[in-house]
Amino acid sequence: MSEKRCRNNRLVVYPGTFDPITNGHLDIIKRAVKLFGSLIVLVVRHSEKSPLFSLEERIEFIRSATVNCKGIEIDSFDGLLMNYAKEKGIRVIIRGLRAVSDFDYEFQMMQLNRRLYSEVETIFIMPREEYFFLSSSTIKEIVSYGGDVSSFVPKLVVEKLRLKFKRSDVIIK
Ligand code: PNS
Repeated sequence: MSEKRCRNNRLVVYPGTFDPITNGHLDIIKRAVKLFGSLIVLVVRHSEKSPLFSLEERIEFIRSATVNCKGIEIDSFDGLLMNYAKEKGIRVIIRGLRAVSDFDYEFQMMQLNRRLYSEVETIFIMPREEYFFLSSSTIKEIVSYGGDVSSFVPKLVVEKLRLKFKRSDVIIK
């Protein structure tokens, strides 16, 4: 792989549902950009997961949270990730790994993706330990009961979660 291609921001992708983006995801994004220089954050529409937020909302959260970070491009996709990778010439997939509980699913996905497209390498990045326990689903659950998530997600996400769950008691810091 030539140096020019390594610097091409279309080569490294961080896919996810990001429903919504958390500070853990943001930590992974920053680490990946530091490693590779640039990154495509790929928001997968993922209709079978019935996301709480629309694709446009999820993209907006990422855009506003990364507005001051250089080297980040946001894209969206609906379909097989490896088809996207083939089409765009992606060589590296970034996935976050928090705990042993993530491993089974990630290992299976990595193997299947490799079978589908052998040119792609999956690189796992661990977030800071304070984010090990964070997930988009637990964030939604906490807010649905009126809990404080202001140290786990960007402010805009707290505001929108508060509206979605009609929880005026949720703290916005
Ligand atoms: O943030 P998530 O929900 O853990 O991300 C999972 C995601 C979106 C990366 C994965 O479900 C995916 O790649 N979906 C696209 C469809 C696909 O390619 N499925 C086969 C995976 S082996």
